[in-house]
Amino acid sequence: MSDAIGTEALGKTYPGGVEAVADVTLSVRPGEIYGFLGPNGAGKTTTISMLTTLLRPTHGAAWVEGIDVTLRPEEVRRRIGLVFQRSTADETLTGRENLEVAAGLNGLSPRESRPRIREVLSRLDLTDAADRKASTYSGGMLRRLEIAAGIVHDPSILFLDEPTLGLDPQGRAGFWEYIRDLRGNHGVTIFLTTHYLEEADRLCDRLSILDHGKVLATGTPSALKETLARDAVVVRTSDPSRDLRPVLERLPGVLAVEAVPGDGATRVEVVRAESFVPVVVRACDAAGIEIASVATRKPSLDEVFLSMTGREYREESEGNHREFAAAFGSGRHGGR
Ligand SMILES: Nc1ncnc2c1ncn2[C@@H]1O[C@H](COP(=O)(O)OP(=O)(O)OP(=O)(O)O)[C@@H](O)[C@H]1O
Ligand SMILES: [Mg+2]
Repeated sequence: MSDAIGTEALGKTYPGGVEAVADVTLSVRPGEIYGFLGPNGAGKTTTISMLTTLLRPTHGAAWVEGIDVTLRPEEVRRRIGLVFQRSTADETLTGRENLEVAAGLNGLSPRESRPRIREVLSRLDLTDAADRKASTYSGGMLRRLEIAAGIVHDPSILFLDEPTLGLDPQGRAGFWEYIRDLRGNHGVTIFLTTHYLEEADRLCDRLSILDHGKVLATGTPSALKETLARDAVVVRTSDPSRDLRPVLERLPGVLAVEAVPGDGATRVEVVRAESFVPVVVRACDAAGIEIASVATRKPSLDEVFLSMTGREYREESEGNHREFAAAFGSGRHGGR
């Protein structure tokens, strides 16, 4: 079976000279949840706009189910649904009326629409709220309504641009359940952009990391973490003044050792933390050092980004910065 989405050296330079997308080559398999990750301004929305025929590429090519997005945009549009980064629901209308508009825009007759609208309302748990004005919906309900609008014409591929922006962590977790259901029970291919790395890690089958309009890496979240980042082991002794570095540096498999500033702990970078723990315990034992604790830490996608670009994956807007710091810690700077 051919790819659900494919691109070849896709690019877009805006009038005025901004090269928003420089070189994007990817292939998304049918039924995949594919993440397109990158910091603000990386070119995510521009790429999605080209894939969904809203914007014309300036170079390269893209296909949706084998159909060229520039040559046959109308055929592409019939096969895809799109949920935009910014809210598009008309809050003066009810949920159901919003879906009627979406169905009409997608070429469904009122007769075809009615059962479809009933179905998507139920699938997104909006049946009870269907006849209320969208202005009374919570942020999470509005996003669900926009998904319902995006799938009312039964597309085989759904594009989501930052679908959980502005939702609280609980709202986001709930939201992803609906996306999993769409893929799991209805076979919809999902292409989404997000800057919540941790969520992408849990949700996506594969992902590409984008920076400055270029794809830096593509793979499953675990493959990316295994090839591009390292595990960490943090060792604490009963005597924090004791310098462990001479003992740990000599051990097999050690990539780097550093004292954690002001903490009395020592951090060791290794390829695989699990097999290193007994080695540390034995070595300290032999040197007469009493261990208070040993903690292991698997790399995050944040560290993958750091190791590829030499800088932290940071958000300067929408208040996400703090969340990143909390989710990924701040002490790890093993970039190459
Ligand atoms: N219409 C436009 N004209 C000129 N430059 C643009 C236009 N739209 C976007 N850009 C620029 O192109 C680059 C990529 O923008 P894009 O919106 O694709 O990024 P993004 O990854 O979606 O970012 P965000 O995470 O903030 O949504 C940015 O430098 C942006 O300023
Ligand atoms: Mg964007």
